[in-house]
Amino acid sequence: MRQAGRYQPEYRAIRKRLGFLELCKTPDAAAEVTVNAVRQLGVDAAILFADILLVLEPMGAGLEFAAGDGPVIHHPLRSAADVDRLLEFEPAALEFVYETVRRVRAALPPEVPLIGFAGAPFTLASYLIEGGRSDDWATTKGFLFRDPGAWDALLARLARAVTAYLNAQIDAGAQAVQLFDSWVGCLAPADYRAHVLPHVRALIRGIRPGVPVIHFGTGTAGLLECLRAAGGDVIGVDWRVDLDAAWARLGHDVAVQGNLDPVALLGPIAEIRRRAAAILDQAAGRPGHVFNLGHGVLPSTPVDHVRALVDAVHELSAR
Ligand code: CP3
Repeated sequence: MRQAGRYQPEYRAIRKRLGFLELCKTPDAAAEVTVNAVRQLGVDAAILFADILLVLEPMGAGLEFAAGDGPVIHHPLRSAADVDRLLEFEPAALEFVYETVRRVRAALPPEVPLIGFAGAPFTLASYLIEGGRSDDWATTKGFLFRDPGAWDALLARLARAVTAYLNAQIDAGAQAVQLFDSWVGCLAPADYRAHVLPHVRALIRGIRPGVPVIHFGTGTAGLLECLRAAGGDVIGVDWRVDLDAAWARLGHDVAVQGNLDPVALLGPIAEIRRRAAAILDQAAGRPGHVFNLGHGVLPSTPVDHVRALVDAVHELSAR
């Protein structure tokens, strides 16, 4: 969860030279940022340095990362006609991502797997419709409630694009993929089941067989069974649920990822260790727990606190 990012001085130094999108589009630099985080933190897996919104640029959305404001979509979708105007995603448009994958794979030791990723259809649609970030997703949900036909057409297109995009990352060397449905927790379960689940299910079923899929969302305490039904080998949860209770609801025949509150990393190391131990206690040594944060590392996080967390998890979970 943002293991490479602004909390690292090395990352900030690279960002002085390159804009965020430019960094994503420069395989040498993106690979360096990915690999540097693994070396600095001692984590067990690398996550590709890229962004979930990259896939929207070749679809004609007009993507920009404005300094301080986060992502901006210059041509937000507000009608069925806007959905029809979206361009069909061509995987070759994101060749720079696959080149980053190849470079990271070549630089990492073989025992460190590389996780590729993409945004899930709902979360991508929320940026396309809102035009940027949102606190209530009222424009997004308004679109769904007003025109469910156009909504389903949009999510079907996004699902198709993301399947092709993830398979291209896998072909380049990604050994697992994570699907980020960061904002899906704003939906009622019935709306998820009717207007999101079928698209996510089709997307996940289209991923190359044998490659583990991590299906992650935040604020999903009301949706856990729905996420499980949509698919994934691992369900990622945030800190708003107890890991043991979430896992019991999901069923122990699926793996679970999580779920330390990233804000805990701002606290003292002794407290970080205590909280990590509490999560590991809830996992109770069962196979299939992937320790992770429940969401992204905040820019104000001290690097040595992240390192201390990784060390604590390794120490406490050693057999
Ligand atoms: O180490 C990693 O986790 C890999 C890289 C990664 C980034 N974004 C880099 C990034 C990953 C996996 C993402 C996913 C992503 N991007 C998500 C899903 C995960 C989540 O956080 O919920 C979302 C919603 C986005 C969209 C996005 N990208 C936003 C909202 C922002 C602005 C955030 C902010 O705090 O300013 C970004 C920019 C972004 N993506 C940064 C990084 C390191 C910061 C950009 C910078 O250097 O200025």
